[in-house]
Amino acid sequence: MKLELRGITKRFGSLVANDHIDLTVEPGEIHALLGENGAGKSTLMNVLYGLYQADEGDILLDDVPQGFRGPGDAMAAGIGMVHQHFMLIPVFTVAENVMLGHEDTKGIGALDLAKAREHVKNVAARFGFHIDPDAIVGDLPVGVQQRVEIIKALSRDAKVLVFDEPTAVLTPQETDELMAIMRQLRDEGTAIVFITHKLREVREVADRITVIRLGKVVGEAEPTATNAELASLMVGRAVELTVHKNPPNVGEGGLEVRDLRVLTPGGAIVVDDVSFDVRPGEVLAVAGVQGNGQTELVEAIVGLAARVEGSITLGGVELVGRGVRGILDEGVGFVPEDRNEDGLVGGFSVAENLILDRSTDPAFVRAGTLRRDALAEFARERIEEFDIRTQGPSTPAGTLSGGNQQKVVIAREMSRDLRLLVAAQPTRGVDVGSIEFIHKRIIETRDAGIPVVVVSTELDEVSALADRIAVMYRGSIVGIVPGDTSRETLGLMMAGATDPEAAA
Ligand SMILES: Nc1ncnc2c1ncn2[C@@H]1O[C@H](COP(=O)(O)OP(=O)(O)OP(=O)(O)O)[C@@H](O)[C@H]1O
Ligand SMILES: [Mg+2]
Repeated sequence: MKLELRGITKRFGSLVANDHIDLTVEPGEIHALLGENGAGKSTLMNVLYGLYQADEGDILLDDVPQGFRGPGDAMAAGIGMVHQHFMLIPVFTVAENVMLGHEDTKGIGALDLAKAREHVKNVAARFGFHIDPDAIVGDLPVGVQQRVEIIKALSRDAKVLVFDEPTAVLTPQETDELMAIMRQLRDEGTAIVFITHKLREVREVADRITVIRLGKVVGEAEPTATNAELASLMVGRAVELTVHKNPPNVGEGGLEVRDLRVLTPGGAIVVDDVSFDVRPGEVLAVAGVQGNGQTELVEAIVGLAARVEGSITLGGVELVGRGVRGILDEGVGFVPEDRNEDGLVGGFSVAENLILDRSTDPAFVRAGTLRRDALAEFARERIEEFDIRTQGPSTPAGTLSGGNQQKVVIAREMSRDLRLLVAAQPTRGVDVGSIEFIHKRIIETRDAGIPVVVVSTELDEVSALADRIAVMYRGSIVGIVPGDTSRETLGLMMAGATDPEAAA
């Protein structure tokens, strides 16, 4: 089915998120939609999916104008969407979530549930991943939740499929598998819109590329374009794709982790006997395939883990047992991997989110009263410094684009008096220009003599930032290697090889 968007305009108040956008996607085509954070990509797709009504313009399917009043209409017309922000019900199982994606389902019947379960298994087999249809979605790691979204989108016989940053939370292997499925769907005649900030993926899978900036189409590019060409078309300037850094000037003390074990409330060991140091002035990157204990390791450091054994000290002060509040007060900056869960309060303003855990800071609160001027001033400075695209400090954070929400979290955590920075997936969902900026800031933090722990599933990011790399596999650290270790060796270690030299 051919999709045509003609002159789509969508305004939010005075903000023009989509400004007369034209886009045609042929059946059997993977069309990449590129653009910096806040360019209007998700908005355009939400219009297509019936979640927003366009102020102007038309949606045509096989040349027939459509009038979607909601996602139900769009789905019925053959449009499927994998959303950037999950639209799942956490207390329901995988199968229940998939079933509730169907607007004609009235309740949870046993027959429907059996069908949904079967569908989950079929799609999972097709993708080559493992997923338990009866698992509670809220208990699943963020990467697995994303797969549920994909399964949901495929549960209707969609002829137009939209993927809004589906790979942001996938491992490289899962990404390859997803791309294989996208190609297969394309070859079967599906029209696919693919949104990603990873240029490597675009060049690998896209048949055509459209770039939007500030709500307008600014050009088309060929999949043969170089990273630098695509980046400058998106951002409107040249982007430095490699991080420049001097050798680390490493101090004494810092973070010391000894014999750390993390257990789930049920007693399963998720981090097993882990010991390492991160000295002031160095970046330790924790690499690994998602789900090998990195999340739980970070939770232990910042006091979010349920059961922790062993010792974690910062500058000689024991952190275990201190609780999140006490640990943050020790000067720990924390960028959580899931900003929607742990990082942001969507209904709060951008300004409030920028001081979320500083509600007692005399700089902003005096005698129990919020100092609005001081807060607005602070927020404006951070918005400027971190290039957060928002209408202003009082805009609800939840209405910002995905990448700009991430920049709010980064700005908050990097604007405190830090003695340790722990950043999990710091550039997830962030555009190339902002990745450049965030990486520079992380290196500046390190050069200011602060120990930095970066957890990333992106090997490019690990290699760009790390002075040393700890590779995790099944809850253990299989080795700590220099920052310039090759991708191949890291890949082998991520698969569990303890002696990568021999394995290679
Ligand atoms: N519901 C809303 N209310 C107000 N403003 C909104 C709303 N949804 C989006 N916007 C604004 O519209 C603009 C475009 O946002 P959109 O989410 O489409 O960007 P995007 O290209 O998907 O960016 P990203 O790469 O960060 O996901 C942004 O300035 C955003 O703040
Ligand atoms: Mg988006």
